[in-house]
Amino acid sequence: MGGLKSRHIFSAAAVAAAVLIIFCAVNIQERKKEENKGIKIGVSVYKSNDAFVAEIVKYMEESAREYEQETGVKINLDVSAAKSSQRTQNEQIKRYISLGYDVICVNIVDRTDASSIIDSATAEGIPIVFFNREPVYEDILRGENIYYVGTDAKSTALLQAQMLIDIYDADPLSLDKNGDGKLQYVMLEGETGHQDAIIRTDWSVQTVANHGITMEKLTGGAADWDKNQAAALMEQWIGTYGKSIEVVLCNNDEMALGAVNALEAAGMEETAVFGIDATEEGAEAVKDGRLLGTVNCNASYQGESIFGLAVSLGRYGRPPEDLPITDGRYIRSPIEIVKQ
Ligand code: GAL
Ligand code: CA
Repeated sequence: MGGLKSRHIFSAAAVAAAVLIIFCAVNIQERKKEENKGIKIGVSVYKSNDAFVAEIVKYMEESAREYEQETGVKINLDVSAAKSSQRTQNEQIKRYISLGYDVICVNIVDRTDASSIIDSATAEGIPIVFFNREPVYEDILRGENIYYVGTDAKSTALLQAQMLIDIYDADPLSLDKNGDGKLQYVMLEGETGHQDAIIRTDWSVQTVANHGITMEKLTGGAADWDKNQAAALMEQWIGTYGKSIEVVLCNNDEMALGAVNALEAAGMEETAVFGIDATEEGAEAVKDGRLLGTVNCNASYQGESIFGLAVSLGRYGRPPEDLPITDGRYIRSPIEIVKQ
């Protein structure tokens, strides 16, 4: 009898153990499924045809594909362009939120107008990575999981100035063609109100002047980062100032390339043109001697960091440990001079 009873107890225990094992296995499987569940990243850029931003996005897409291969986690990277309209961008972001995206990356149209995007995403607990167009600090602090990836605008201007200073110091007459001891320059500026346009315009000239080189501004104007607009302005300025233009300072490479096109058309290839970004075309133009120099703002580093930050925020709700975050919220890409 005793033997029978203990056999019963034994088989009850075996059943319980089996149930437990199955339960655990199901649980582990569930957890695995949860860990490997796809991540949806919604991206909105201010417009589709900005050369430098398009390069950043290209590197984000490459990083996403590599991540998928390495981890087996499916990444849905959905990119939309806002056609330079903040209203359109707000709609795109609302859509990402309503579709339950895990994280949102924003190249904001109007950098002074980030608060409504931030408030609607944080209300749903969705992290935001801003990039390239920098919201004001007070807005960044409106939510817990808000970050910014970009360059430090002032450093890019200092390096652009440094290039010019080095060339001048080595051979002043190579830039000061009329030998009057001053550099007659024109300035091609990016969009009015953009942090990079304001700061680059001020600091490039100021740094050169602080070094003791006399800068004489002939004229300047905003060409919205755009090659064709820059070429049109440059053509006008060539009409007015002709060969007395010794230096063309440009807030980015696209405008520098536009300026070069206009200068070449006027037979003024010798004029010194400086850009910023080192886009593929910009870096190529430096190699070919069409641009005197540019500053590499590292689109690849930016794209990889935006993706790395986004995927970690989306999966684990926190930034990854291997990215250098300053002031709790900022990733600034390393930059360097690119010259012949
Ligand atoms: C700047 C860049 C420009 C343009 C702009 C768009 O940082 O130098 O080429 O891409 O951002 O916001
Ligand atoms: Ca001169």
